[in-house]
Amino acid sequence: MRNLHIKTFGCQMNVYDSARMADLLAPLGYRSVDDPAGADMVILNTCHIREKAAEKVYSDLGRLRLDKQAAARDGRRMVLVVAGCVAQAEGAEILRRAPHVDLVVGPQTYARLPDLLDRVGRTAGERVATEFPVMPKFDLLPEPRADGPSAFLSVQEGCDRFCAFCVVPYTRGAEYSRPAAEVMADARALLAQGVREITLVGQNVNAYHGAPGGLGDLLRELASLDGMDRLRYTTSHPADMDDGLIAAHREVPQLMPFLHLPAQSGSDRVLRAMNRRHTADDYRRLVDRLRAARPDLALSSDFITGFPGETEAEFQATLDLVAEIGFAQAYSFKFSARPGTPAATLPDQVADAVAGERLSRLQDRLNADQEAFNRACVGRVLPVLLDRAGRHPGQLVGRSPHMQAVHVAAGAARPGDLVDLKIVAAHPNSLAGVAVAAPARACA
Ligand code: SAH
Ligand code: SF4
Ligand code: F3S
Repeated sequence: MRNLHIKTFGCQMNVYDSARMADLLAPLGYRSVDDPAGADMVILNTCHIREKAAEKVYSDLGRLRLDKQAAARDGRRMVLVVAGCVAQAEGAEILRRAPHVDLVVGPQTYARLPDLLDRVGRTAGERVATEFPVMPKFDLLPEPRADGPSAFLSVQEGCDRFCAFCVVPYTRGAEYSRPAAEVMADARALLAQGVREITLVGQNVNAYHGAPGGLGDLLRELASLDGMDRLRYTTSHPADMDDGLIAAHREVPQLMPFLHLPAQSGSDRVLRAMNRRHTADDYRRLVDRLRAARPDLALSSDFITGFPGETEAEFQATLDLVAEIGFAQAYSFKFSARPGTPAATLPDQVADAVAGERLSRLQDRLNADQEAFNRACVGRVLPVLLDRAGRHPGQLVGRSPHMQAVHVAAGAARPGDLVDLKIVAAHPNSLAGVAVAAPARACA
């Protein structure tokens, strides 16, 4: 047995890829461990989306150099791999800045890890693999192994939208949808291992076209599988939300009433400059249609403050949109100028302090809305899929239909149980529940 430590940065696609790397390496005798210090292999699965995320990798690599030296003193070899979007974007530059790294593999090439590892240590071995292969990586991956009752299933990768701020089209390449039959086979394999909830993931998942009727049809097909209790999908682009997918929110009971639908800004001028290809009103109308289809739908979003040229009035338009929609939760970021993206070289870059001040005003509002949404759940009964042990002994944690973390005293329940919980307390980021046997209703 050899010890493998994978540290994952970034989005759900990376979480999925990390799990698949563990699946690929398991037949070679690697089992996952929490501590990098004693590991035989450490993989950093990196994110390039903002400067801070990318720079974190180098500080981690600095620490890992010491772990690697300590391993060598004990006569052990620690193989250090940089994977993910920084690997894709920076390639050989990583080896220049951190020569103790053994391998650099991009998100499209990690399926070759077993083969590449074989060559590590040989002087002429290939150390950077960041090509976009002709054969989709999924064809090279083994059947997915489940880890708990909830699983990510990648159905789409890459992005053709080229939002002006975003590195993803460059790090993940052109949009690719997996054929529906392949997705169904992976879903069956996961259900057979006890999975009850599947989240379909993709950089722009609702651009999925591997089934004739797009993502809506894929969801309907998946919902017909025995044992499929819950379905979700993430992340979606507003302009790719079609009628069939909206209808799925009305028609597919397993599709949970929660949708992450990034708006980025409430200003039409900023949205245009971002190349988002929709207006703030398009977003409002879309939310109206989604809520008509599924009245208890909880919404989540991403926002960027300080996009080049953003004025105070334009930022105010974002606050107005937030106030109107009432998000159950949301992520917000200061604009980060990323090398190679059109927005990085736009004139009128906004001062960091201004973007930061706007971010904190926006987050105050979003946090207040999230707390209000959580408070509105108190007294309701929600079905919760318990998926892990809590921080305190005897406590379990699960997810509500609206993605809220819910804590409960375990009692007779076990991870994997779908239980009705009466919500007795709301916190900023979670709920507390007690077990009941009554039927569940959704939050307002
Ligand atoms: N595919 C998703 C987004 C993936 S990136 C979508 O289209 O919505 C996740 C979020 O990071 C984005 O929604 C955006 O809000 C933020 N983001 C991306 N690039 C950024 C940048 N250069 N600076 C700040 N935030 C950024
Ligand atoms: Fe990036 Fe835009 Fe594609 Fe999302 S839709 S991954 S923000 S380019
Ligand atoms: Fe980051 Fe790559 Fe995901 S840049 S957000 S890990 S697609």
